[in-house]
Amino acid sequence: MVLALWLACGGQPGPDAPVHDTAADCPDPSLTWENTGQPFVTTWCTPCHHSALEGESRFGAPIGTDYDTLDGVTQWIERIEARALGDDPTMPPVLPPSDEERGRFGTWLACGAPGQDIVDAQPCADVHDLAGDHAMSGLPTDFCDVYNGVAGDLRLDEDGSVDCLCRVDGEVLVEATVELPVLHTVGSLHASTAVSVVLPALVEVAGDLSLEGPVSQAEFALLERIEGDLHLTGVAAAEIDLPLLQHVGGDLVATGSDVLTILDLYRLQTIGGSLLLEDLPALSRVDPTNSLESIGGDVVLRNVGIERLDTLRVLEELDGALTVSECAELLYLRGLDLVVEVDALTVESNPQLWVLRGFDALGRVGGDVIIRDNPDLPASEVDALLQGVIVEGTVTTE
Ligand code: HEC
Repeated sequence: MVLALWLACGGQPGPDAPVHDTAADCPDPSLTWENTGQPFVTTWCTPCHHSALEGESRFGAPIGTDYDTLDGVTQWIERIEARALGDDPTMPPVLPPSDEERGRFGTWLACGAPGQDIVDAQPCADVHDLAGDHAMSGLPTDFCDVYNGVAGDLRLDEDGSVDCLCRVDGEVLVEATVELPVLHTVGSLHASTAVSVVLPALVEVAGDLSLEGPVSQAEFALLERIEGDLHLTGVAAAEIDLPLLQHVGGDLVATGSDVLTILDLYRLQTIGGSLLLEDLPALSRVDPTNSLESIGGDVVLRNVGIERLDTLRVLEELDGALTVSECAELLYLRGLDLVVEVDALTVESNPQLWVLRGFDALGRVGGDVIIRDNPDLPASEVDALLQGVIVEGTVTTE
């Protein structure tokens, strides 16, 4: 990778630094930061000597002696050699590493601490966009020598990897399995023929994210924001985890999958549009949406396999209608304690539903209320729910 900073054997010693005769001192040039230096300091040193640690969590390690980057280590090479190597090492102060580990680490230092510091390299700090729309198969062979972004659309039409790609301003169309380890922003993303969509560094989607059909593996470990819609249509994945997703600007729609069992939206806080979950008979967990504070549109759950919907406890704003129908497994519907007003309320054809509670703050329904064909639901539950609620439309209960 060209943008990476390489510290070759020997480096450039500063004026005061003792000069290593690297050729003579380096018995094993295969040792690098990645395979030797970083694993060693991560286990033995950075629990105290880490730039992200402050105050007491440094356990007394002097401020500024941070070894979480290669640069941090090379700045302190002589001090580290003095304290962590030799006959009487005093670092780490507890739980010493084996002599063998120390030996290997010492050899790497003696070789001039070669390796590549990913953190220092910051491949995405500067933007170098290739103009226009492109396909993976047609990218210039020297793409990564010159660019780290695509200004238009990018079609991932063949398997492979693009290590340097940080952003795509247009649409990313996923048709093949492509490793994009640093891709962190895309205009939009669409996959309808791919099987696996794994984007470990993706943080933001400026438009829509849609996954359809054969997608059976979808991983977005760092994704925080989708400014447009999130569509999951007939996906073949049993589980879709969006563990860090906080914001969906448009609609969140999942429909038509017999296998989708878990939808992890652990940190979701806002949905600008509607939340529509339809024809997902295997979906047993919408997990747990305990953080969801506002929904700009409707909430519709139709033919969804969940047993209970009781996790919308912190939802304060629901600007549309609430519909829960044809949920064969649903036993409990409760927990919308903070919602004050909804446009309409429909609870219909849920054969096992017997608890309908927790709408404590509900004061007004802007349209109709329909609560019918829920054979196990006691009339007292319905009466309790509607007590004190102003309904602008008609009320249908049976
Ligand atoms: C449990 C916490 C802890 C761990 C783990 C630890 N250190 Fe330290 N380190 C300290 C403390 C506390 C000091 C300051 C007291 C001292 O110098 O003995 C220190 C001081 C140092 C210094 C002296 C800095 C200077 O020039 O004044 C060096 C060098 C150092 N450590 C290297 C290391 C290395 C290398 C490792 C891993 C092999 C390591 N330490 C692991 C706590 C730790």
